[in-house]
Amino acid sequence: MRNAVGDVQTVLVLGGSSDIGLATAVALVGKGARTVALAARRPEALDAQETALRAAGAREVLRFAFDADDTDAHVALVADVVARTGDLDVTVAAFGVLGDQAVDETDPASAVAVARTNYVGGVSVLTAVANQLRLQGHGTLVVLSSVAGERVRRSNFVYGSSKAGLDGFATGLADALVGTGAKVLVVRPGFVASKMTEGMEPAPLSTTPEAVAAATVKALDGRATVIWVPGALRLLMSGLRHVPRPLFRRLPL
Ligand SMILES: NC(=O)c1ccc[n+]([C@@H]2O[C@H](COP(=O)([O-])OP(=O)(O)OC[C@H]3O[C@@H](n4cnc5c(N)ncnc54)[C@H](OP(=O)(O)O)[C@@H]3O)[C@@H](O)[C@H]2O)c1
Repeated sequence: MRNAVGDVQTVLVLGGSSDIGLATAVALVGKGARTVALAARRPEALDAQETALRAAGAREVLRFAFDADDTDAHVALVADVVARTGDLDVTVAAFGVLGDQAVDETDPASAVAVARTNYVGGVSVLTAVANQLRLQGHGTLVVLSSVAGERVRRSNFVYGSSKAGLDGFATGLADALVGTGAKVLVVRPGFVASKMTEGMEPAPLSTTPEAVAAATVKALDGRATVIWVPGALRLLMSGLRHVPRPLFRRLPL
C-alpha cells in the first residue's frame, strides 16, 4: 500500500533477474519503496540483485519461483507474493526472450517458445496480477513492451509479433481497469544495452536500463499510460507506422 504521501512501498518484479526490472526496482527503492519481491526462474541466483537492492535501501527483498511458461502456477504465485508482502503497489513485468530470428522463422517449436514466454506467459500473469489489483482497488502494472511490437519488422518479426500481442493485451487491460483504481503503464523501449542485447550492435537511439527505469518511475507519478524510451521514439514510430509496407521492409531496421 502506498504511504500517506502516495509513495510506492511494495514492488514485485516478474522476471526478477532482468536488467531493466532490477534498475526499475532500484529506482523505486531510491524513491522510498521498502519491500521488493523478485520472481524469477532461478530465485537462488538472485544474490547480485538482492545486494543491489539492499545497497539502494530496500528493507526487505523476497524471492519467488516464477516461470512465465508455467501458466498453471501464476494465480498461486500472486497469492503467495501478496500473502508475504501485502498489497502490490507496483508490479513490473520484465521477463522476456529475444529468441533467434534466423532459427525462429523456420522452426515452429522455437517460434512458439518465444510467443509462449512473451505473449502467452504475459497474458496469464498479467491477468492474475490485474485480478489482485482490482481487489485492492489500487496499484500499477508496468508492462515492458517494445517498439519492436509497435510496427513489426521483417528483421525480428517473431519477437516483434510476440511484443505486439503483449502490447495489445496490456493496452486493452488498461482500458478494462479504468474506474477500478488499478492502472497499467506500457513501456516501449528501443534498443536497451542489457543481457538481452549483449554482443549486439547498438541501434540508433539506444538506451540503458537505468534510463528506462528513470522514465518509468517519472511516468508512475503522472498520467501517461504509454511511454517510449527514449522519448524521441514516439515521434519516430508515429512516422514509421505510416510508411507503406513495400518500402518499410526495405528499410535497414
Ligand atoms: N533489451 C532491450 O533492447 C529491450 C528493448 C525493448 C523491450 N525489452 C523488454 O524488456 C524486458 C526486460 O528485458 P531486459 O532488457 O532487462 O533483458 P534481460 O536482462 O535479459 O531480462 C529478461 C529476463 O527475462 C527472464 N525470462 C526469460 N524467460 C523467462 C521465463 N520463461 N520465465 C520467467 N522469466 C523469464 C530472464 O530470466 P532468466 O534467464 O534469468 O531466467 C531475464 O532475466 C523484456 O520483456 C524485453 O523484451 C528489452
